[in-house]
Amino acid sequence: MRIVSCSMLSCDFSQMGKELVRVQDAGCDYAHLDVMDGAFVPNITFGAPVIKSLLPYKKIPFETHLMIENPEKYIGDFRNAGSDIIIVHAEATNHLDRLVNQIKETGAKAGVALNPATPLSACEEILGNIDILLLMTVNPGFGGQKYISSVTDKIRRAAKIRAEKGYGFMIETDGGIDSVTGRESAAAGCDILVSGSYLFKSKNLEAAVLSLKNA
Ligand code: DX5
Ligand code: ZN
Repeated sequence: MRIVSCSMLSCDFSQMGKELVRVQDAGCDYAHLDVMDGAFVPNITFGAPVIKSLLPYKKIPFETHLMIENPEKYIGDFRNAGSDIIIVHAEATNHLDRLVNQIKETGAKAGVALNPATPLSACEEILGNIDILLLMTVNPGFGGQKYISSVTDKIRRAAKIRAEKGYGFMIETDGGIDSVTGRESAAAGCDILVSGSYLFKSKNLEAAVLSLKNA
């Protein structure tokens, strides 16, 4: 069974609390919260106060994906807003090891994300110290993009390093995930599938979630 992390980016933002309840009831394991600043990526979404406003509805872990510059300034804010997992981009900091430790010191789990063009070597030295490796399968910034299949080999190589070194991090993919591309990711060694538009566009949310769990 794969872990399904629902990207709230494609939900009805005017009803975000209700939408969270809907995805929780449909069996999603995590809520994936895409924070974009219009600088690291060419789009702006929401920040810590919006995530905090969801707390009364929260029944599953919040996974906050920071697509922002200077992420080290805001780790405390996102933790206080209820983030159980905080994922930062290797491309957004000069001091990834320090940033991962900063996240862990708050008590949150730490994830590192890599854009499609960023090689695994950008975080290879600290793979033993992270909880999640998020491999972007689209260029971050927007929901509804097409899965970039060349990343599938990167998933395979990450899984190989993990097995060889005995590391414990989970591998996650994000972008263009549906039942077909989810299967491609899962077969390569992915444990957590992030999905937004596929889930929110589906007529039967429960069945769509299940198709990813069984990918
Ligand atoms: C893209 C975001 C993704 C995105 C996934 O920058 O990080 O989480 O919302 O959406 P879909 O599943 O529509 O590609
Ligand atoms: Zn994301």
